[in-house]
Parts: sequence; C-alpha cells; structure tokens
Amino acid sequence: MPDHAPGTARLPFPDAGAAWPELEAGLIQAKEKDVDWRAGRLAVYTYYRDEALLQVAQDAYAHYFTENALGKRAFPSLARLEGEVVEMGLSLFHAPSGAGGSFTSGGTESIFLAVCAARNAKPVAGRPNIVCCETLHATFNKAAMFLGLDVIRTPMTADFRADPAAIAAAIDDNTVMIGASAPGYSHGVFDPVAALGALAAARGLWLHVDACIGGFLNPFWPDAVPDFDFRVAGVTSLSADLHKYGMAAKGASLLLLRDAALKRHHSFEFDAWPRGTYATETFSGSRPAGSIAAAWAVLRHLGRAGYVENARIIHDAKARLAAGIEAIPGLRVLRPSELCMLLYGAEDPAIDLDALAERLGARGWFVGRNMQPKSIHLALNTVHAGTVGPYLADLAAAVAEVRAGALRGAEDRRTY
Ligand SMILES: Cc1ncc(COP(=O)(O)O)c(C=O)c1O
Repeated sequence: MPDHAPGTARLPFPDAGAAWPELEAGLIQAKEKDVDWRAGRLAVYTYYRDEALLQVAQDAYAHYFTENALGKRAFPSLARLEGEVVEMGLSLFHAPSGAGGSFTSGGTESIFLAVCAARNAKPVAGRPNIVCCETLHATFNKAAMFLGLDVIRTPMTADFRADPAAIAAAIDDNTVMIGASAPGYSHGVFDPVAALGALAAARGLWLHVDACIGGFLNPFWPDAVPDFDFRVAGVTSLSADLHKYGMAAKGASLLLLRDAALKRHHSFEFDAWPRGTYATETFSGSRPAGSIAAAWAVLRHLGRAGYVENARIIHDAKARLAAGIEAIPGLRVLRPSELCMLLYGAEDPAIDLDALAERLGARGWFVGRNMQPKSIHLALNTVHAGTVGPYLADLAAAVAEVRAGALRGAEDRRTY
C-alpha cells in the first residue's frame, strides 16, 4: 500500500454511512481492471476449479464469518474442526503416531513457526543458521530476519535441485535447520528429501520440508514423485498450504511435526499481566474461523477422489501447453519440469523474453517471470485446462510481434 503522498488531499473519514448497494457497486467497479482469475488469466495467487467448489468454500466460510478461532473455549466446534483438518493432514503425509500440527494462516506462518521451533529446540553458541539450497522459498529469509537467524544458501545443481554434498559442507556448529523444497516455487522440482533426511538425522538437525505449494498435489499426481513426507526418516516438520492446491479459502496452511511435543518450541504463554494466562501455539492472536471451516469443508467435499481428479486435470493441461509451446519455433520448455510448474524460455536470441512477457501482458495475461534461468513461469491449476488454446494462440501472436518489431522489453524482477 503506498503511503499518502505529501501535499495531496487525504481521503476523509466518512461522516455518514453508505448503503450496501452503493458499496457493492463500488467493489464491483473497483475490480474492473483486476486480472480475471475465473478466466485463468494468471497462473499464480489464485486456485479455481469451478463455481460449485467455490460455493462450498464460501458457504462454509460464511457459517463461521464472525467467530474467532482464538476462542476455543467459547467455540469448541472450532477446536474440533481445526483438529480434524490437522488429523487429515497428518494422515495424508504419513505422520507417525505421536505427531501433531497446527492450522496457520499460510505458508509464511507455517515456515515462521518451524524456524522458530528449530531455533528454540537447539540453542547454539553463536547466531543460529538455516542451511538450504538457493532455491528455497524467500520466506525462510523473512522468518530468519524476524527470528534472528542467518540463511546459508548453497548453489543449485544443473537440474535446479539442492546438492546434499554442498549442504553438508555448509553446515556448521550454529546450524539449527536444513530446509528442503517439495517442490520449490522457482522451478517446481523436488529437492532430494531422502538424502537430506539422512544428512539431518546423521547431524542431529531439524529438517523442514516446504511442501507449501506441492502438499495437496504431490500425493495425487499421476506421475511418481520422490519421497518427501514423514515416510522419510529424517523429516522433522512439513508445511502444506490448504489455500493453494488444497483449494480452500485464503488464510489456511498446515505446519505438521513428527513429534507433537516439539510444539512447545513455537508456542507462547504469558501470565504476568492482569488478564491471566495468554497462550497460543501460532503467531496470530485473533484468527479467522472461516478459513478453518472452509478448509474442513473443501477437504471433505473433494476427498482423495476430488484431489486426484484435480491433479489429472492439471497434468493434462500442462502436457498440452508444453507441446504447444514447443511447437512455436524459438521457444523451449525448461526441463526437468515436475508437478504443476511450467517454465519456458527463448532459445532464439531474436525473441527477447521481457518483450514477449510484455506482449502477453498487453493481451491480458498476467505473466510470471523467473530470473534463473530467465524464463516465463506458470504455476498451473485446474482453471488452466480451459485456457490452453487461447494462451497458445496469444503466445504465437506475441512471438511474431517480438520478432517482427525486434522488440526489447524491460526486466521485471518482482516475484509476486
Ligand atoms: C514453496 C513455497 N513456500 C512458501 C510459500 C509462502 O506461502 P504463503 O504465500 O502462503 O505465505 C510459497 C508461496 O507461493 C511457496 O510456493
């Protein structure tokens, strides 16, 4: 949100209230220039199957719109629903008995809590650090900034994965955590979690698996995916976002722990104020109950069969899109290409990728760009099954424009 520009008139606080029809019209109008997610015009931020599933999530959310998930004593139903979502997650990711978990507001909070717990579980003499591949999500650095850790990032291999030998070499006496992606956001490939699990076990370190993007896709993907969950012996914790491929409402992720007792390392309790004991196991105080209810309803509504179907739809859309991209001379799909992520670049110097991104943008597509290697990035979801044809047609036209005008674009380094 931009700060208020000095010298310009500030929006006054409204004196009289406005009626809902007027406000609703204002909201509809406000959205006019936003990217159309229902039409699959972007492959980031939103996950959309169809109106029926959206309705389930919205209705469930609305049932708990006003309740506060901080208040489990007042709303015992929320404790039950939250517990059931965590239980379903523990089952999905093959957690052993004695495992536990928390429902959080998103991947960032799940990772924040994992980093906090790893730090608190292993006091070190110096400034604690996390060792990981350079591809690990940026939010680990965000957590490290707030929690006073360093992040040591080792170079990725030629196939965009963590190199266990490089990670082993970077571990020092102050290392408290190894981070692994399953898969990573930048390239969609899996780190070798089994090898990193063995390393973590041998060195007595906490291994966190970031399955924020992949968690609710990996178990259902038509192709075999590498072991990434609690079946790998050295995995201590795992994050999986319900508000991504879990298809739930925003504000929903799981942080799961192999041993529920580890929860004490990210829990907070305070008694030295007049109002008595304040205790929470996640970062937030007041929490939206709607996102818990929506996640509970969507998980149960889709069930394994629904998620398998979603994965099949995405897998099929990706294959059609990849084939179409490779049929356009001068473009190539980056490989390895795992799970839902599709990246493509230009092998012909006459096609400037920034110019291509801009031409696609002018045609109404919201374009994600990857920096290493330079490429266009798509995190495909079910909605894209219907956009393959129009996207490929626009892509071919955009390539022709770039070639014909020898266009050069401006670099845009923003992730989101
Ligand atoms: C692999 C991975 N980890 C963590 C995150 C952060 O999740 P959130 O934006 O829900 O906080 C993302 C978001 O895309 C992600 O892809």
